[in-house]
Amino acid sequence: MSDDRVITTQAQPDDKLLDSTLRPRQLSDFIGQEKIKGNLNIFMSAAKGREEPIEHVLLYGPPGLGKTTLAHIIANEMGAGIRVTSGPAIERAGDLAAILTNLEEGDVLFIDECHRLNKVIEEVLYPAMEDFCLDIVVGKGPSARTLKLDLPKFTLIAATTRISLLSSPLRDRFGNIYHLDFYEDSDIEKIVHRSSNILNISCDPEAASEIATRARRTPRIANRLLKRVRDYAQVMGDGNVSHNLARESLNKLEVDALGLDRIDRQILETIIEKFNGGPVGLNSISAATAEEMETIEDIYEPFLLRLGFIQRTSRGRIITEGGYRHLGLVPPDDLQDKLL
Ligand SMILES: Nc1ncnc2c1ncn2[C@@H]1O[C@H](COP(=O)(O)OP(=O)(O)OP(=O)(O)O)[C@@H](O)[C@H]1O
Ligand SMILES: [Mg+2]
Repeated sequence: MSDDRVITTQAQPDDKLLDSTLRPRQLSDFIGQEKIKGNLNIFMSAAKGREEPIEHVLLYGPPGLGKTTLAHIIANEMGAGIRVTSGPAIERAGDLAAILTNLEEGDVLFIDECHRLNKVIEEVLYPAMEDFCLDIVVGKGPSARTLKLDLPKFTLIAATTRISLLSSPLRDRFGNIYHLDFYEDSDIEKIVHRSSNILNISCDPEAASEIATRARRTPRIANRLLKRVRDYAQVMGDGNVSHNLARESLNKLEVDALGLDRIDRQILETIIEKFNGGPVGLNSISAATAEEMETIEDIYEPFLLRLGFIQRTSRGRIITEGGYRHLGLVPPDDLQDKLL
């Protein structure tokens, strides 16, 4: 259901092409997230000085903020090869063993959606991460033996949108853990400028900032909105993205001034109308809106939380004063008691 939303943070099929042209290849092209970049720069130059691969990296944060991009940048900057896979793609221990034994010294192994690795696979990963070796069980029953197989020194880069689902033994084995948070509006604006340069779109500065403020502080959405607005400007105007055309087309896409769309508003409205503003559990919200629980938690909620329109309490989700006001409603008198 979320697939046709222009502001979905999930990668869409036509993002693929866009991604490959717009994805920054070097750390210096990666806009924003200054703290992470600063840390990475130090870790990478230190490792280069020692002529070693960098320590394993865990990247986490909401979709579309640049985890995959950073993984590729790290490999690129380290002059390393990169092998890409994902948690659900590695089904059996043998799959992982095959990947690991095929790595070359210094390679990066990128595991996306690492919260979906199963326990058996994680067990194989631990000695590989810690000692660069594989324990292989040969034979069955009483005659079974464990063989130790040396692996090349590699860097594991793992990415997840759900750090809370990661087992702590796995999390503890990363030397570097980075939390990608939503971008500053000014950074998103820079990203819009960068992308319009690359795509040869003539875009007025006011239009760029209009797109930026509605992009949910997410680079992937900024790029997608830019493309939609460009298409609109081509059909409705002379191709130049003016402030007016940008505003018009974004309104047509039902993306409001803060970047919320129909479904975000529906979630807020549902909690207010059906659950008296909360507290209400995620499963009830899911049932009432016909959106999957995981989708709500992964895609919609992080930004609503970030805006402060929803608050999470031990009893469930509650709509805050800001949430009511954004919908043009007056918050109820007992709201303060609920939020306690
Ligand atoms: N800091 C940045 N500067 C410029 N562009 C960026 C930046 N971060 C991300 N992008 C753009 O946004 C797109 C989406 O980023 P990316 O695919 O790395 O997100 P992700 O965090 O891996 O998302 P997911 O969780 O869905 O896998 C990239 O293709 C890139 O064009
Ligand atoms: Mg990714």
